[in-house]
Amino acid sequence: MNPLNHVAIIMDGNGRWGLKYRNSRNAGHKAGLDTVETIIKTTIENKIKFLTLFAFSTENWKRPKKEVNYLFNLLENFLVNKIEDLHKQNIKLKVLGSKKFSPKLNKLLNNSEKKTFKNNKLQINLALNYGSKSELISAFKRLKKNKSIISEKNLEKNLQTQNIPDPDLLIRTGNTKRLSNFLLWQLAYSEIFFEKKLWPAFNKKDYKRIIREFRNIKRNFGKI
Ligand code: FPP
Repeated sequence: MNPLNHVAIIMDGNGRWGLKYRNSRNAGHKAGLDTVETIIKTTIENKIKFLTLFAFSTENWKRPKKEVNYLFNLLENFLVNKIEDLHKQNIKLKVLGSKKFSPKLNKLLNNSEKKTFKNNKLQINLALNYGSKSELISAFKRLKKNKSIISEKNLEKNLQTQNIPDPDLLIRTGNTKRLSNFLLWQLAYSEIFFEKKLWPAFNKKDYKRIIREFRNIKRNFGKI
C-alpha cells in the first residue's frame, strides 16, 4: 500500500454548481467552502500530513470584480471564524503565492501563519494568487542572483514549497483535465485523479474512494 503524505486539490466547479443549483456563481463558492471543511476533517482522519488547496490563481483576477471580492470576503470570514479552531486542532496554515490582497486580508493571513507556525498534525497550504510558472521564474532568478549551481535540489530550495514534500496525489474536481499552472514542478510524479463531480458536490465518500484507489496503484517513479 502506498504511503500518502501529501494531497493537492484543484477545487474546480464552484461556479457551475452555483449557477445550476442556486442561480448564482457566488453561492457555489460558499458551498465550496463547506466541502473544504469536510475534506480537512477527512484528511486528518486519514493521517495525511499535508493538504494543498488551490483557492485562487494568478489568472483568477480576470474574473468580475464582484466575484473576486466575494471570494476574498469568504476567505476573510473563514480565517476570522475558524483560525482558533484550526489552531486547537494542531493545524498549521501556510500561504503559497504572493500576498497582494487588501491590507486587512494580508494581515489576517500573516497572523494566521504566525499563530499556527509550530503546529504539526496537518499542514494546510492555501494557494492564493499562486501561479507555478511565476514561482519557477522567481526561483531561477534567485539562483542566478546568488550564482548558485542550477540543480534540482537548489531549485527546490527556492520554491515556495521548500520543506514540503511533493504531492503524492492530485485531485481535480469539475470534470476538466488540466493542471491550470498549479505546482507544475512538484507534480512531476504525482498520481492524478480527475473527478467528474463539481467541487461543492464532492464529498467524504468520493475522497475516501480516491484515497483507496491511490493506495493500490503501483508507483514506479520511472523504474519498472
Ligand atoms: C474554482 O471553481 C474555484 C475557485 C476559483 C475558488 C475556490 C474557493 C473555494 C472552494 C472557497 C473558498 C476557499 C477557502 C479556503 C476560503 P470555478 O469558480 O472556476 O468553477 P467553474 O469552473 O464552474 O466556473
